[in-house]
Amino acid sequence: MITATAAPTPTFTERDVEQFFDASTQNYLSFWDSEGVLHTGYFADGNTTDYHAAADATSRLLGDAAEITASSRVLDVGCGCGNFVFALARRFACECEGLDLSLERVKFAAQKCSELPPAVAKRVSFRHGSATQLPYEDGQFTHVVSQDALFLIPDKPRSHAEMFRVLAPGGRLAISDFLQPTLEISPRARKHVYDRVRWTSGYSLVGYQQALEQVGFRVRLARELSPHLARTYQVLGKVATARAAETANPAARDWMLGFAASCQEIQVAIDQGEFAWGVVVADKP
Ligand SMILES: C[S@@+](CC[C@H](N)C(=O)[O-])C[C@H]1O[C@@H](n2cnc3c(N)ncnc32)[C@H](O)[C@@H]1O
Repeated sequence: MITATAAPTPTFTERDVEQFFDASTQNYLSFWDSEGVLHTGYFADGNTTDYHAAADATSRLLGDAAEITASSRVLDVGCGCGNFVFALARRFACECEGLDLSLERVKFAAQKCSELPPAVAKRVSFRHGSATQLPYEDGQFTHVVSQDALFLIPDKPRSHAEMFRVLAPGGRLAISDFLQPTLEISPRARKHVYDRVRWTSGYSLVGYQQALEQVGFRVRLARELSPHLARTYQVLGKVATARAAETANPAARDWMLGFAASCQEIQVAIDQGEFAWGVVVADKP
């Protein structure tokens, strides 16, 4: 039940999301990670400030949960600049495809791919497209993975059905994603957490499992890990503030300062149960 204090829910289209991620690619590269990583870190403890190590740890956690092997065919939905794809191809010597809605990000990933050792590059490919209309045949993949991307999709039942379709029977879905634990979102959280990245709405952890089960998945694991979400934005807010002080370009500086201000509000939203993060692993029977 949405109360009178809740902000109205705007509806962003896929096109809005695409435009945001195309337009913000360079800004994110300038302070978040120059390699294009853009997901929540899994921090060893509350004192750790090494975002890159934490971001790698999330990838390891999901790779382990997925139980990928050298004979796997993996699809990363919302692959962004391709880092998870590269990490999986290196670690498991599996075949790996990345798909993303942002052409800017796919171009970045393809460029990086061309610089990899041929033994890794030959197992990796990228495509521009949407999770709601996957350009693959039924049952083509043994694994579908995704890091912090599915929340952005306005029509989630459709993308769930698509991921189910392209998995072979016995295939596995292993994802990290943002969660919307409550329907009651304050105007402040709406502005700094949701509208900021063109996110319309999401699931609670229970709702997520139910939505996956509705298209046929069998959920194996679902864990909320929000302290890591809080740590990620604490660390990156400080990085953005420091980087802004060294940045001459006024537009880039303002973008970083705006991000840093949102990081403070993000902490409040997490504390108030308006924003969360978790991992879900599910099988196609
Ligand atoms: C927060 S970024 C995460 C990128 C990447 N997974 C990572 O860990 O660095 C979210 C990504 O989801 C992509 N995305 C959003 N909606 C999508 C859709 N409908 N289909 C495919 N990708 C989508 C965006 O373009 C963006 O690259």
